[in-house]
Amino acid sequence: MRFPQAQVALLEAASATDAKPIEQLAEETDLKPETVTRAAFDLRDEGLVAVDERVEESATLTDEGETYREAGLPEVRLFRAARDAGGTVGMGEAIGASGLEGPEVDIALANYARKGYGVVDGGEVSADADADPDADEEAAALDALAAGEVVEDAGLLDRLESRGLVDVDETTVRSVTLTDAGVTALMEGVEAAETVDRLTPELLTSGEWEDVEFTEYNVEADAPAVEGGREHVLRGAAERVKDVLVGMGFQEMDGPHADADFWINDCLFMPQDHPARTHWDRFALDVPPVRDLPEGLVDRVEHAHREGVGEDGDGYHSPWSEDFARAIALCGHTTSLSMRYLSGYADADLEPPQRYFSVQKAYRNDTLDATHLLEFYQIEGWVMAEDLSVRDLMGTFEEFYRQFGIEEIRFKPHYNPYTEPSFELFGEHPETGEEIEIGNSGMFRDEVLEPLGIDCDVMAWGLALERLAMLTTGAEDIRDLHGTLADLEFLRNAEVTY
Ligand code: PHE
Repeated sequence: MRFPQAQVALLEAASATDAKPIEQLAEETDLKPETVTRAAFDLRDEGLVAVDERVEESATLTDEGETYREAGLPEVRLFRAARDAGGTVGMGEAIGASGLEGPEVDIALANYARKGYGVVDGGEVSADADADPDADEEAAALDALAAGEVVEDAGLLDRLESRGLVDVDETTVRSVTLTDAGVTALMEGVEAAETVDRLTPELLTSGEWEDVEFTEYNVEADAPAVEGGREHVLRGAAERVKDVLVGMGFQEMDGPHADADFWINDCLFMPQDHPARTHWDRFALDVPPVRDLPEGLVDRVEHAHREGVGEDGDGYHSPWSEDFARAIALCGHTTSLSMRYLSGYADADLEPPQRYFSVQKAYRNDTLDATHLLEFYQIEGWVMAEDLSVRDLMGTFEEFYRQFGIEEIRFKPHYNPYTEPSFELFGEHPETGEEIEIGNSGMFRDEVLEPLGIDCDVMAWGLALERLAMLTTGAEDIRDLHGTLADLEFLRNAEVTY
């Protein structure tokens, strides 16, 4: 029988009695492991070999694991120090004697009682007289792994992995055995067919293509996955948002991530004693204040805060300080950019009609959960025109979200100090069916527009890119999308549906 060369080499190297791993066969045949794997699967499909697969776990020490293997685990060092000092000692003394430094102290304390070394209480460390640090199974496992031995206890390996002391990798080990049909084929005689696996310009020009035998493609063969780089789901969503908004006639705004509170809040008629402006919510930066602010605008904004605007206007009667307005913080929303543009400060004075947007980062001191991170991308936008109404705002969102396959948007009345009326937007999550908030919007108030010198209507919004990406990818937790807990498997394979 004739087979491609690699298959002949594999048939000759394989044994009917001895399952040989791919690596060994690769060495014996002088072929690449991928080539042997492919040949093995092809021959398996012909019934000539059997391929056995096994997932093998291999554990290796991390740098931290290696450090503790040499110097001793922090909890063991704390125990020895306490025991040598008489059994019960002040925390400071025990730590000093143990030589533990920085984060090692917390690590020692976190593992001390768990592993039965004693008690840490009321500023004292006591060493349990029955504890034996030489029998520490975690320390023994580190030694064993360093010596290349296998640690069988899965629970123990899990603990070491969660402490960051070992990395556990899974590999699929395949081995090949000849079947009876394979042995028969070998006895009847196999020879290598000169097959060609690709059509080249030389084969074409020489006319040789007419005589050669082409290798058959096996598109079902198992092949190693190639994890190439891929555009991040959020980046993809951001680019798509830009395309859609540009298609709707919007121009892009650009500006700083950290800005004067003047642009972030004061222009937006946010009173200076508003809770969002306190140190709990705001990421203040310890840098010199902004010097360059448009003076006339600062005066008009201050006036709006103190006295209000228009004949029946009323201000906040709350403190207003220019120093606070000049202080710099990370932008809690990108509406600061809208203020820079609407005031004419970022570019030129603008005449209606105008449409602007941005997709930029905003930072908030939120509590982390499935829909909140400390930072997110905001899709900011506004339309400036005569006689705008809430119908225009709703119609714009419906048109925008429809481009992402989201047909059902719900609006809920809301309050913002800078818009009246205001609406929160909700969309239904495709997997959980839950309504999630996807944005906030409204018509800017006169207290915002008048100081900016605008006498037509402006409707505006801030939408969350991550929430949009959750709706279009089905991700149920924002932390899967970015941050240290991001789900790489999800990011590699997520299908974006629009
Ligand atoms: N700044 C608002 C937010 O971050 C969004 C918004 C922008 C609302 C403009 C109304 C007008 O939630």
